[in-house]
Amino acid sequence: MSAIAVLTSGGDAPGMNAAIRAVTKVAASRGVSVWGVEMGYDGLIDGNFRPLTRLNAKNKNLTPVGDVEAMGSLGGTVLGSSRSPRFHTREGRAQAVAQLNSYSVEGLIVIGGNGSLAGAHVLAQESSIPVVGIPASIDNDIGLSREALGVDTALNTIIDACDRITDTARSHHRAFIVEVMGRQSGYLAMAAAVATAADGVLLPEHRRNREEVVKAVIECIVESFGQARDKTRVLILKAEGVDITTHELLDEVEKVVPPDIEVRSTVLGHLVRGGNASFRDRLLAGRFGLVAVEAVLSGVTDRMVGWNHTEAGDPTSDSWIRLFPIADVLEETTALLDGTSSVTMDRVRRMEAIQGVLSL
Ligand code: F6P
Repeated sequence: MSAIAVLTSGGDAPGMNAAIRAVTKVAASRGVSVWGVEMGYDGLIDGNFRPLTRLNAKNKNLTPVGDVEAMGSLGGTVLGSSRSPRFHTREGRAQAVAQLNSYSVEGLIVIGGNGSLAGAHVLAQESSIPVVGIPASIDNDIGLSREALGVDTALNTIIDACDRITDTARSHHRAFIVEVMGRQSGYLAMAAAVATAADGVLLPEHRRNREEVVKAVIECIVESFGQARDKTRVLILKAEGVDITTHELLDEVEKVVPPDIEVRSTVLGHLVRGGNASFRDRLLAGRFGLVAVEAVLSGVTDRMVGWNHTEAGDPTSDSWIRLFPIADVLEETTALLDGTSSVTMDRVRRMEAIQGVLSL
């Protein structure tokens, strides 16, 4: 194999650039040149390829181009990303394969979340080019990888923000509802609630209706500021996917809590998706990148590298990383999000186990 390509797709995540760096360096070290595809699947269709490796004039070896070294620490994705409606069409995908062939690309690495992996799965089936995915999504909602790129950095940003909010909340003895991203998955809210010693957490996985959510928040705030608890701040973490907007929730809560209790809300939103990748995300990116390149170079296709220390999937050179059929990943993702996966059930069970502790 003489050339591979790499693209990032869907919502960006810290660690994507470190993964591009790893893919480029590993491939170059094996004498394989790397094309970076700009703007995800749209760039694949349009042939927006840029070289990430070059021939070193002195020793005639392949080497990463200048900015690859520097990109590893940066958040976002230097290649750009898109959610591509054109790639959902057979014509779009045929054009993408034609572009790969015209650049003599013999392997493709797709870094992204569930939508991106679904695209990789279809492409692998419709072409003879090996396609391997690397899981990246701050939501941690990708099946068969216990952690995706971006999750650790996002959590560090959330806990930093909550520490700051706590400073001001304590000063005024206020309650805060803090919303974090997670359209369908409450993982960020769940993990951050433990790390910040929040008083309550609201998750889509609880499947409460609006009235139940409002009631739970009112109870948590009133009890926490009541005589038995006597707290100086109340922090409630809410996942974006909960069935009531934070604005509406605040309105409903303010109608009921005693007037001497002040409640505020903050939506962290995209703030949580940016920022330089943490040590852990860079480490995961490096290890995923190495295994993904090894896989495409050996002709493996329609697989995702997963951070999963189990017997499932195929072993790799890294004992913490397994290769899973993307179809299985997508199936497990559905179960993760509809609550039937043992991983989701276990997470919810653990949250329920600490429900009484959180509010103490
Ligand atoms: O990447 C996943 C995610 O961060 C979700 O949590 C969120 O709902 C969504 O992306 C936001 O997407 P966009 O940036 O397209 O608004």
